[in-house]
Amino acid sequence: MRRCVIFDLDGTLTRSEEGIFNCVRYAAAQLGMEEPPVEVLRRFIGPPLKYSFMHELGMDEKTAEEATGLYRQRYQKTGLYENSVYPGIRRLLAGLKRQGDWVAVATGKPQKTSERVLEHFGLSKWLDRVVGPDLSADAGKAELIRRALPEDWKDGEAYMVGDRRFDIEGGKAVGLKTVWAGYGYGSREEYLECGADLYAATVQDLISLLDLSPVTPGWFLSMEGLDGSGKSTQLALLTGALEQYGYEVVHSREPGGCMISEKIREIILDRANQGMTPETEALLYAASRAQHVHDTIRPAVESGRLLLSDRYIDSSVAYQGGGRKLGVDEVMEINRYAVDGLYPDITVFLDLPHDKALARRYQASVPDRMEMEDNAFHSRVEEAYRKMLEMHMERFVTVDASGKPEEIGKEIAQKVLEKLDRMEMNRLTER
Ligand code: TYD
Repeated sequence: MRRCVIFDLDGTLTRSEEGIFNCVRYAAAQLGMEEPPVEVLRRFIGPPLKYSFMHELGMDEKTAEEATGLYRQRYQKTGLYENSVYPGIRRLLAGLKRQGDWVAVATGKPQKTSERVLEHFGLSKWLDRVVGPDLSADAGKAELIRRALPEDWKDGEAYMVGDRRFDIEGGKAVGLKTVWAGYGYGSREEYLECGADLYAATVQDLISLLDLSPVTPGWFLSMEGLDGSGKSTQLALLTGALEQYGYEVVHSREPGGCMISEKIREIILDRANQGMTPETEALLYAASRAQHVHDTIRPAVESGRLLLSDRYIDSSVAYQGGGRKLGVDEVMEINRYAVDGLYPDITVFLDLPHDKALARRYQASVPDRMEMEDNAFHSRVEEAYRKMLEMHMERFVTVDASGKPEEIGKEIAQKVLEKLDRMEMNRLTER
């Protein structure tokens, strides 16, 4: 018999305070009221809006209805996206679905809005059902939870996970095991009063409690580009976007990324090592990569995280294969041995002509041994990168890196998130 797991939305799957706070502030301001303090704003997350406007801000019923209307106006346009998925939630939902559990959402947020939020963050693919009140009727939480269960459910193993009294009381009324999401918005007093059956302080606790095994693998992403193409800035921006969607990002870099490989990095980039042969250099990069795969990349991906590496195999093909003229195929061959079948799921390529990239690089700081090479070297690097792009089109996300960093960042985030969404869908149908 499959299990059923029903989740609340705000404060359980998503951290939605920014959007909610801003919309309550907006409604209060429109009605000529003072800005409510943060403790009061916090109590708006979870319960029905009208109830909160009446109980938290002392409005009469008619004003509370007006405030609710104003709130919704702003929420639909902007508030919806001032939101993020708790780290680990993607791993949890994907894992439950993989086990064949029934997974649903029962929320106090209107049905249509909830669907939009879940769709926006790409979480709908793992949900069998989303239930929220429609705008005309005031359904209680218990009723919503009942509707979120499969029609044929009687008394099989089922959980209600939430962060507010309403979730726990509703779950109990329907006869589910209740789990308090301690990382959400409910207070300690609320938790003690409502008497949930189980307690999860973090999403990781929730994952252990629901006994998710085996772990759903994560993803491996790399970023590539010539020196000076703006990689560091773009890595930071992409991390922010991925984390907003609930991906658990682990950072790494090449050469380096673990103790042994960082030591190899020092040898490779040392300006004193001018006599290093291209073959030695290529083998050292490959050696550092082999250790990096073993110590850092595989463990992160196998534990369901998203590993984001600053450079990987394509750098060797471009710099040693192209720049040092060892040949694209030859360098690929050494690395095939080193990486033991592990290629990135997605590689972001920051596309910038080598002369522009190098000019930017020299302005930034003292160049390392690789960066001291001449223009012809970097032109060959660029050419080899382009060969890789052609050969592995399906893996690459290429963006023009000559514009404004924030705009480039947005384009990368959008393309990468779309690709991940598609890959998550494929995994679901592959099962
Ligand atoms: P990087 O860490 O990107 O440089 P920085 O920290 O200065 O931004 O990369 C170090 C240099 O190593 C860079 O010039 C590219 C080069 N490189 C290779 O030649 N082959 C490789 O396989 C890798 C990973 C890097």
